[in-house]
Amino acid sequence: MSKREKEIVIGENEARIQKNIIEELATRFQEEYERTGNKKKFYIQTYGCQMNARDSEKLKGILEHIGYIETDNEINADFILYNTCTVRENANQKVYGRVGHLKTLKKSKKDLMIALCGCMMQEDAVIETIKKSYNHVDIIFGTHNIYKLAELIKAKLDTGDMIIDIWKEHKEIVEDLPSIRKHDFKASVNIMYGCNNFCSYCIVPYVRGRERSRNPEDIVNEIKALVDDGVVEIMLLGQNVNSYGQTVDNEITFAGLLKQIEAIEGLERIRFMTSHPKDLSDELIETIGKSTKICSNLHLPLQSGSTRILEKMNRKYTRDQYLDLVMKIKAVRPDIALTTDIIVGFPGETEEDFEETLEVMRAVEYDNAFTFIYSKRTGTPAAKLEEQVPEDIVKDRFNRLLETLHPSVNKKAKEQVGKTVKVLVEELNGQGDGLVTGRLSSNHLVHLKGDKDLIGKIIDVKILEAKNFYLIGEQA
Ligand code: SAH
Ligand code: SF4
Ligand code: F3S
Repeated sequence: MSKREKEIVIGENEARIQKNIIEELATRFQEEYERTGNKKKFYIQTYGCQMNARDSEKLKGILEHIGYIETDNEINADFILYNTCTVRENANQKVYGRVGHLKTLKKSKKDLMIALCGCMMQEDAVIETIKKSYNHVDIIFGTHNIYKLAELIKAKLDTGDMIIDIWKEHKEIVEDLPSIRKHDFKASVNIMYGCNNFCSYCIVPYVRGRERSRNPEDIVNEIKALVDDGVVEIMLLGQNVNSYGQTVDNEITFAGLLKQIEAIEGLERIRFMTSHPKDLSDELIETIGKSTKICSNLHLPLQSGSTRILEKMNRKYTRDQYLDLVMKIKAVRPDIALTTDIIVGFPGETEEDFEETLEVMRAVEYDNAFTFIYSKRTGTPAAKLEEQVPEDIVKDRFNRLLETLHPSVNKKAKEQVGKTVKVLVEELNGQGDGLVTGRLSSNHLVHLKGDKDLIGKIIDVKILEAKNFYLIGEQA
């Protein structure tokens, strides 16, 4: 038996065990409901990236199968779960603040269960702090065992003890547990977990474990089932989707996977993130160029425009290689919207390094960018570097970064004006009556007149105007 087959067998077994526990709890909860007339409610707060958002969909699936219903009002909840992020220090501070506040709520509501999970929980120092200062927390688990939520709830109910279950490494990919999608017409699908890149500033490889790709058949089957269920757009998720396939038995590349997904009938749009520039192959660029379903948006994190800093970041590409990739991709898809991530204030970043970042931004003309101030993460190689950039200089650079970004964001949005484009209508617009909001293939947001019948449909829209953060259009 190959390693992969064994992994699936263990996975199926574990999924069965968890399903049995979910059923057992469902019976208990139903009996309680019949006695009290009260359905128990859960509240989930998700921090961080799309990985966490997808994990929260799985956690919601388990909770709903147990018999909880979702509430968006934390005070009404019987089960409160924070799915945490630790990529930057301020994310951690937010969580501590909120968990502290829950202490009073817990005093007035003795059956309230408080649970913490996600990336922050993978850090030993965090667990120590919670044990010491936040002992009103009931359940703590990490990123590798989210599928065990029902078992952890049962353990809490049966013992009354604080339950802590953190795995240092991932053991198996458990497929086929329930999950609840936010939208009927679009869905996220994990194609891989973890990260092997160890960018020197980044904590993700330490809290999400080693890179593991899912089998292509499992991914394709999951997407086919989603399409049968009404999904027209999928987002493929991984920390570095471009290196997909390195841990599965059959040799397959990300481009190969995309071709299989493209062939799924009824699927209209494919998105993916994140693409690491070092692994953006010619095969992949060609596949993007030929595809009719891959959206015209590539998120290609730059991090820094200085080759010297990129090397210190362990990014494994130079500024010129990055610019080369941009040229190649624009050659096969001239309409592609490029977005990026940039960090300012990495240790040792000089004014010259920073100006190189601005130069790349002006050369590429990004449609949008996520801009971050460097945050020192304990345990990463960069945390040991001595030349931290003074705070006032970082703030000044951050402002200049935004000043350089905004003209290209505006220019790119204006280029859409006058065009008639396909838009997937996603929701009613909260701002005004009779308005809906949708997304272009480029991922630009557009508001237009329409009602709820349009939600989930891909329609032709003429773009009339570009505002600061969105476009205005009308049905063509
Ligand atoms: N795997 C993705 C990114 C995941 S984290 C990739 O490689 O692009 C999302 C973004 O957070 C990163 O792209 C980076 O810009 C930012 N980031 C990560 N660690 C950071 C840190 N220590 N300080 C500031 N920003 C950070
Ligand atoms: Fe972090 Fe780099 Fe991995 Fe992205 S590729 S998650 S930035 S280590
Ligand atoms: Fe944060 Fe974890 Fe994502 S640290 S950015 S939630 S992988």
